[in-house]
Amino acid sequence: MESPVRGRTVLVTGGAGFVGSHLVDALVGDNDVRVLDDFSSGRRGHVDPGATVIEGDLREPEALRAATDGVELIFHEAAIVDVTESVDRPVETTDVNLTGGLAVLDAARRVDATVVLASSAAVYGRPEGLPIPETAPAEPRSPYGLQKRTLEEYARLYAELYDLSTVSLRYFNVYGPRQRGPYSGVVATFLEQARSGGPLTVEGDGEQSRDFVHVRDVVRANLLAAAAGEPGAAYNVGTGERTSIRELAAAVREAVDPEIGIVHREPRTGDVEHSLADVTRARERLGFEASYDLEAGLRTLLTDADRGG
Ligand code: UD1
Repeated sequence: MESPVRGRTVLVTGGAGFVGSHLVDALVGDNDVRVLDDFSSGRRGHVDPGATVIEGDLREPEALRAATDGVELIFHEAAIVDVTESVDRPVETTDVNLTGGLAVLDAARRVDATVVLASSAAVYGRPEGLPIPETAPAEPRSPYGLQKRTLEEYARLYAELYDLSTVSLRYFNVYGPRQRGPYSGVVATFLEQARSGGPLTVEGDGEQSRDFVHVRDVVRANLLAAAAGEPGAAYNVGTGERTSIRELAAAVREAVDPEIGIVHREPRTGDVEHSLADVTRARERLGFEASYDLEAGLRTLLTDADRGG
C-alpha cells in the first residue's frame, strides 16, 4: 500500500517504543520524521537512523517545543502502558499519560498540527456485549483506562474549541516484533517461553479471549487516521476476530515446538473475560481492515529479521 502520509514533517512521541518505532519505520522514507522519547522503556536501536531523535520527557516544555516546532502531524504513542503500574501509582502515571498527553495536544494547538492519539480498548472496562462498538459505554476499570479515556475527551474538546484535527485510536491487543520487557502481553510472553523450552503459563482456564492485532496493521490504521480521520472521533483498531488464550497457546506450540508443555496458573484478578472490536467504523470511515490473522502474525515473529534485536 502506498502510504497516505507523504512529504510531511512528522513527530512520533514514544518513537523508540513498540508501536512508535514501527510507525517511524513506515514514515521515514517519505517524510521528515522526529522522535521524542525519554528512553524509559524505548530503545535507541529500534529507531530508524533516518529519524531525528530528541531525548526528553513530554512534560518538559523545552523538549516538547523543540520536538514540535514546524511539525504538521503528531502521532502520540508515548505512555506508561502497564495497567498494573497505573493501579499501583495512579498519580505518577496520570502525570505522564494524561498531563503529558494534554501537553502534546496543546503543543499541537500552537503549531496547528494534526494529532493521532494512541488510546486503548481499556477505555471500555468490562464490556457489556461483543463485539464492542465505539458507542459502547466507556467505563474504565483502571487508572490507565481512565487516563486514556480522559485524554480522548480532551482531544475531542480541542477539535471543538480550537478546530484542531485530533483522532483517537483504541488499540485492542497489539502484538508483533520488538514487544518485550516485563509488560509485554501474552503473545510475546508465550513466544519467549516457547523459545526457552516452555512451559506456557495459561492464567485461568484459558477460555478468555482477545482481539489480537498485529503492530503493522496498527501502523496502517494510524496512517489512514492521519489522512482521513474525522476530527474529534475515536476508532477501534482490531481485527474483528477473537482468539482464546488456549487457542493462542496451541498456535504458539504448533509454530515453535509441539512438545512444549502448558501449565495453568490462577486467573488474573479483575481479568476481562472476552474482548473483541467492532471494526465497522474504522472500515467504513478510514478504509482500514486488518491484514494479518494470528497465524500470519505469529509467522512474522518467528521469521522476520528485525532492527535492533
Ligand atoms: C491488554 C493490553 C492493555 C489494555 C487492555 C485493554 C497488552 C500487553 N495489554 O491487556 O494495555 O489496557 O488490553 O483491554 O496488550 N495471560 C496468560 N498467561 C500469560 C500472560 C497473560 O494466560 O503469561 C492471559 C491473561 O490472563 C489475559 C490474557 O492473557 O486473560 C491477555 O493478557 P495481556 O496480554 O496481559 O493483555 P490484556 O490484559 O488483555
